[in-house]
Amino acid sequence: MDAFEVLSGGTLSGAVCASGAKNSALKLLAASLLAEGCTTIRNVPAIADLDAMGRVLAHLGVDVGRDGDVVSCDVPAEIGCDTPASLVTRLRASIVVLGPLVSRCGHARVAQPGGCNLGNRGIDLHLWGLAQLGAEITLEDEAVVARAPQGGRLRGTELELPYASVGATENLLMAAVTATGTTRILNPAREPEIVDLAGMLSQMGARVAGAGSDEIVIDGVDALEPVDHTVVGDRIEAGTYAVAGALAGGEITVEGVEPAHLALVLDKLADAGAAVTLGDRSVTVAGAPLRAVDVVTLPFPGFPTDLQAAFLVLLSQAQGTSMLTENVFDGRFRVVDQLVAMGADVSVEAHHAIVRGPCRLEGARVAAPDLRAGAALVLAGLVADGPTVVTQAHHIERGYADLPGKLAALGAGVRRLGAVEAPPAPTGV
Ligand code: EPZ
Repeated sequence: MDAFEVLSGGTLSGAVCASGAKNSALKLLAASLLAEGCTTIRNVPAIADLDAMGRVLAHLGVDVGRDGDVVSCDVPAEIGCDTPASLVTRLRASIVVLGPLVSRCGHARVAQPGGCNLGNRGIDLHLWGLAQLGAEITLEDEAVVARAPQGGRLRGTELELPYASVGATENLLMAAVTATGTTRILNPAREPEIVDLAGMLSQMGARVAGAGSDEIVIDGVDALEPVDHTVVGDRIEAGTYAVAGALAGGEITVEGVEPAHLALVLDKLADAGAAVTLGDRSVTVAGAPLRAVDVVTLPFPGFPTDLQAAFLVLLSQAQGTSMLTENVFDGRFRVVDQLVAMGADVSVEAHHAIVRGPCRLEGARVAAPDLRAGAALVLAGLVADGPTVVTQAHHIERGYADLPGKLAALGAGVRRLGAVEAPPAPTGV
């Protein structure tokens, strides 16, 4: 059965180490395409999405190897420039090979990423930006085809993103590093994963300044070199365990993460009553009686949408009424039905979720609608009366390395029921 069983009642205590950030590692693998030779990427999480990205690179001719959390990408002089639907629809994030391929080869054909379970997931900003850089964009048989002028190099320009899209910023950053002249990206995404990507590109010989700020400046270079780079810690995985500590701690310490990457999340946990202590590369969270707080999701440094579902669970146990507003995705309250089935008092009005607590949750058989909602349902099981079975656990395994094992090491009664199957149908976030 593709499921996790969660037994409640234990108090969590001890330390857990966050893996490398899924949402950085995926792009760092794509960035390896920019340089002939062997790029080594360390602290790569052992999760299904990274395996999927490895298959995309292998299809393009890259010799991808893994030894523990170290992935090597041996990129040949000649690489393919066409990623088929069979690979892309299983991994939306593979759209970020578009920028590197156009940058390296002068053209690319990437199957349109499939729909996904978070509502609209456009790529219009990716394509608009590439066109601004001089690429000719056409849609051919459900695939995006991008060609640099005369199949050569893109042209630097000034781009102002109407929305600070993470994926568009990453694609355009990787497209611009070998464009002629200077490219300015205004209103870029400022997530720590963008800074990590810019850091690796700079190590490769790119000339990138301003990542993490409201303007990124790229001076194009002729070629990049392979590098050895370590992935930044996963702030969303770390935040998930921090919420677990606030919900069911004792006291837990999450290591391997920069507290500054979770600043607003930790502020909200403290506002809700948890005891939060910051280390150099760790955060410690102790449980306490919780009180209602309001949360609004926004691009970084705002509150991350990827921790919205986990906070719905936390607020269901807080005294009072909270309002959680989701501004990033238009379909991201799919966990609410499952939480209500467990006894939570949550109502959704447009992009607001009104949470009244505290509510006693009853263990139940629930289904993970997506990666982060699935993790949130596991957290709900930690504080529910009676066992909870979370099915469709393959969604969770796409983004969390060994969630059951890491929670069990903190004292939680969480285990896999049977082997977690591969996704039965294309998924994608
Ligand atoms: C990245 O998705 C992450 N995924 C998401 O994490 C994360 O939730 C999101 O950034 C926001 O932080 C990866 O990095 C692999 P966006 P991405 O482009 O790049 C709209 C997880 O659980 N939009 O910032 O797709 C879009 O529809 C996943 O780990 C357009 O309309 O995020 C969405 O509403 C979930 N047109 C919003 O912007 C575009 O061209 C945010 O998208 C691009 C985006």
